[in-house]
This record gives sequence, C-alpha cells and structure tokens, in this order.
Amino acid sequence: MSKLFGVSGKKKYQPKETRYDKMNYRRCGKSGLLLPEISLGLWHNFGFTDNFENARNLLKCAFDNGITHFDLANNYGPPYGAAESNFGTIFKKDFKPYRDELVISTKAGWDMWPGPYGNFGSKKYLISSLDQSLQRMGLDYVDIFYHHRPDPETPLEETMSALDHIVRQGKALYVGISQYSAEDTLKATKILKDLGTPCLIHQPRYNMMDRWVENGLLEVLENEGVGAIAFSPLSQGILTDKYLKGFPEDSRAVKDGRYLKTEQIDKKLISKVSQLNEIAILRGQSLAQMAIAWLLKDKRITSILVGASKPEQLLDSLKALDNLQFSSKNLKEIENILK
Ligand SMILES: NC(=O)c1ccc[n+]([C@@H]2O[C@H](COP(=O)([O-])OP(=O)(O)OC[C@H]3O[C@@H](n4cnc5c(N)ncnc54)[C@H](OP(=O)(O)O)[C@@H]3O)[C@@H](O)[C@H]2O)c1
Repeated sequence: MSKLFGVSGKKKYQPKETRYDKMNYRRCGKSGLLLPEISLGLWHNFGFTDNFENARNLLKCAFDNGITHFDLANNYGPPYGAAESNFGTIFKKDFKPYRDELVISTKAGWDMWPGPYGNFGSKKYLISSLDQSLQRMGLDYVDIFYHHRPDPETPLEETMSALDHIVRQGKALYVGISQYSAEDTLKATKILKDLGTPCLIHQPRYNMMDRWVENGLLEVLENEGVGAIAFSPLSQGILTDKYLKGFPEDSRAVKDGRYLKTEQIDKKLISKVSQLNEIAILRGQSLAQMAIAWLLKDKRITSILVGASKPEQLLDSLKALDNLQFSSKNLKEIENILK
C-alpha cells in the first residue's frame, strides 16, 4: 500500500505544504521557543458530547494554516479528560508524523478527580495528573506543562518544585503558570530560576473587556523574560458579531451555558459590542479579527489562544494577522467605548 494511505485504506492526512507561508512566530519571552501569533485551545468543542470529525477538522485547519500550538488541560471535556482523549485519538490518526512540528501543552490546578489529591497545587496532584494526561494523549512528553491557577494554601515552593521535577523527569520541556497575579508571578519566576527551570510562559485571560494584566503583570513578564499567551481573546465569543442580533442556537451561550450565560450578554454589553463592530467594519475587519489584532499590537504578547466551534471561525480569526496596525484615533475610539 502507498504511503499516502493508512492501514484502513483511507487517504492519510497530508498537511498543506503552504502551512508556514503566512503565519508569524514570536519568541516566547527570553527562551528559544517560538509560538505562532495565533494558537488553538481545546477547552470547548473537543469533548465526548461534541462532533469528533468537526474537532478533527479544526485541528487540521489550524495546522494547515501554521498554527503549531495546541493547548489543553486535564479537565477539558466534558467529561473531564475527554479533550485529551479525543486529542490523543486524532494525534494518532493524523499528527504523529508531525510531533516535532507541534507545541502541545496541558495543565493541572482545577478540580480533576475526587478526594484531596485531585485539585489545586500539591506536588502529589501535579505529578500524577501529568502522568494521566500523557496517557490520555498517547504522548511521551508535553512541550509545556502549566500550573492552571494559583493555590492559596500550598507553598509556592512546593508547586514550583513539582514543575521543576516534571521537566527533570523529561515529561515536559517547559513550564508555565496561569492566572497568577503580578506579585505571585514574580515570586514564582524567582523560585523557578533558582531551581534551574525558568518559567517559559504565563497564560492569563486577556481581551478588550478584561484588562487586569495591564495592572502590573505584563511589566513583570517583560522584566523577567517570560512570554504571555492570552486566553479567551474573544471573551468566549462576545467580542464577535454573533450576539448582535440575538442568541444563535449554536452559540456557546445557548448551547453550553456553563461558563458563558445568556444573562451576561445584556443590552448595555451589546451596545458596546455594536460600537466596536462599527470600528471593525471601517477597518475592513470582522470584530473577531479586530479583537485579536488589538491584543497582538502589544509585542509583549507572544500568542493569542483562540477557541473555535468550526473551522470557518478559525479561518476568519486568522485573517486578523493581515492588519495589526491601529491609528491613535482608532485606539482612542476603542478606549472611549470600553470606558
Ligand atoms: N488558563 C485558563 O484558565 C484558561 C481558561 C479558559 C480558556 N483557556 C484556554 O483558552 C482557549 C480559548 O478560550 P475561549 O474558547 O474562551 O476563547 P475565545 O476565542 O475567546 O472564544 C472562542 C469562542 O468564540 C466563538 N468564535 C471563535 N472565533 C469566532 C469567529 N471568528 N467569529 C465568531 N465567533 C467566533 C466560538 O464560540 P461559539 O461556540 O459561540 O461558536 C468559540 O468557541 C481555551 O480553549 C483554552 O485553551 C485557558
């Protein structure tokens, strides 16, 4: 049988040869690792209740367009673990020959299994959780392992020493932290530096409507040489034109409703989104594209971590890269709307 066909006789996935033509890659802090300006997250749309072929097409569409970074976590689903299991199945079918072209990340820190050892930031939890993640994904190692959220009870020294241990075990190449405050980030990076495993990256929520990182965190990351990857850049879909005319049946707010609820999307919010949408149209962009470009105009941001429920959305978001420039007039107008 030809190399183009798998054992089933079905044509194997061949990524587009043009995949690296348009994407830009930014250096992650002061490391050797480059990340695509847009990365894909598997928080939603990759669970056992989602359409498997759609999930598979999303990953292929991403890689065909230069998105080399896929972001997961132990509890992405539903149920918890399902996104990693589905990713493992797709990886085996389509991506195995391209492992060295991919940066795959996972995380632990939120509730994962019952009892006292499946949550927060103990060494006990992080080490065993990564072992489980690797098994679900069928991988020998991940590229980046994150502590998913700060733990107010466990000493930071213990959590950071778990991250250092994981790298020394060869189960992750790099480590990162997510949603840590500026103050805790500074402490964590210093501990990791002393241990000899630098903190590669911070993953904060950052979008036009959630600006907490501008309150000190981005400065800390720049000073410490740590990269930044912004999650929920579209505020889970609010920063697109989809809710301007009501609630589409297939939208996250209607279909899922766990993390984004229709009640959150009120008239006041929609009036702001509508004004932002006017500016996007004048720029020749969709609102999703403008929201992504707005984040990428800051060179301290290494990558934007988008989600997508269909490949067309990903293709739309990727077009953001055609125009990352903002006039000062545009920026002022945007600030006035967001005030
Ligand atoms: N570290 C953490 O604590 C943490 C927390 C949350 C997320 N994350 C990471 O960040 C990733 C992204 O988060 P997110 O899914 O909230 O990101 P997002 O990009 O803000 O929202 C993605 C959703 O917006 C809609 N959408 C995307 N592109 C669109 C487009 N071009 N036009 C119209 N609608 C579009 C889709 O929703 P519809 O279903 O409505 O179509 C899509 O599922 C996650 O997968 C995960 O990897 C990390």
